[in-house]
Amino acid sequence: MNKTSDNPRVIVALDFPDGEQARQFVARLTPGTCRLKIGKELFTREGPTLVRAFVEQGHDVFLDLKFHDIPNTVAQACSAAASLGAWMINVHTSGGLKMMAAAREALDASADQRPLLIGVTVLTSMSAEDLRETGIDVTPEQQVLRLAALAQKAGLDGVVCSPREASVLRDRFGSGFTLVTPGVRPQGAALDDQTRVMTPGAAVRDGAHYLVIGRPVTRAADPVAALAAINAEIQAAIA
Ligand code: C5P
Repeated sequence: MNKTSDNPRVIVALDFPDGEQARQFVARLTPGTCRLKIGKELFTREGPTLVRAFVEQGHDVFLDLKFHDIPNTVAQACSAAASLGAWMINVHTSGGLKMMAAAREALDASADQRPLLIGVTVLTSMSAEDLRETGIDVTPEQQVLRLAALAQKAGLDGVVCSPREASVLRDRFGSGFTLVTPGVRPQGAALDDQTRVMTPGAAVRDGAHYLVIGRPVTRAADPVAALAAINAEIQAAIA
């Protein structure tokens, strides 16, 4: 077993096509060695049952549904996610200050333990040209900073960001503002379709709190050993 601490930094992205494969994979993991991310594909196929099952097994679940709608609808969706026992949830910061504040208020009012509320700023798939086409004439970097500031003002706990943005965001918003970073690859691991990656050690040294890592763990010949190696690298970096 490779229990890291009470605060595992790795969130394993469960990008499996169906619940059975996800269940079989998760059965190999010990809660406390990582957290789990369920995204739109798996949630749409399997629904809340899978979230509840993993929570009941003692896993922390990041429900990555990126809510974006009118404030009341997002607030209700956040309450519903909290009632499933999600540990972390997220909303699109481009939904605006009122939407984010409504999400935060709904979570504060819910009887359940409040999940961490994280904002998505600019999707890394969006180029400057893509932003311009939607009427946003600043660079993606400027827009990330603008939206992250709005998220902090609305009471969000942090944002999802590229590991390359982590040090700038940490310096601007402080170490209490949670940074969740995908795009992480251990040294020598396959990049898959990620282009600008950082190692787990470098990402946490730059201020990332949680690292979303999928294929380097889920497709490893020995996922438990792959996770243990990543956890060891993180521990060495923050020691
Ligand atoms: O397998 P891999 O480590 O690339 O998985 C990364 C996870 O993080 C996937 O679930 C992917 O959808 C998600 N993600 C990402 N880049 C973003 C936002 C989310 O890779 N900018």
